[in-house]
Amino acid sequence: MALLPILRFPDPRLKKVAAPVHNIDASIKRLARDMAETMYEAPGIGLAATQVDVHVRLIVIDTSETHDQLLTLINPEIVESQGTQVCEEGCLSVPGIYDKVERAESVVVRYLDLEGVERTIDADGLLAVCLQHEIDHLDGKVFVEHLSLLKQTRIKAKLAKQAKITA
Ligand code: NI
Repeated sequence: MALLPILRFPDPRLKKVAAPVHNIDASIKRLARDMAETMYEAPGIGLAATQVDVHVRLIVIDTSETHDQLLTLINPEIVESQGTQVCEEGCLSVPGIYDKVERAESVVVRYLDLEGVERTIDADGLLAVCLQHEIDHLDGKVFVEHLSLLKQTRIKAKLAKQAKITA
């Protein structure tokens, strides 16, 4: 197991569109384990492979308070969505920034598990938000890109300042 470095917005590699996984081999299983460890250590409730600079369609999520309900989703796809909700989001790639984003209230997501078995998950509330946020990452989109351009400019300036202080 290993902790993986997380890319920070506005790193251009966060804009890459991830490729589908065709073969769930040992390297994909290792990546999934390392991503889960990285997410729990951060700590965060979701992580997409894009954020650790591996551009394949794999995400890990655990929205439980007990941190023992890990979901690993390969090639996740939203097949149904309903309603709207506004939730304050944050992201391990955008440290210290939180803002409200409008998303679907509930989603049905189809995916493969680590054994290659096709599954669906019917989610609402926080889990639905998290699924949409992580699938966005696989499509090269960070949550701040749902905000106004003015807010995005402010966020970039704030992160650039933080990077300077910690450099
Ligand atoms: Ni994120």
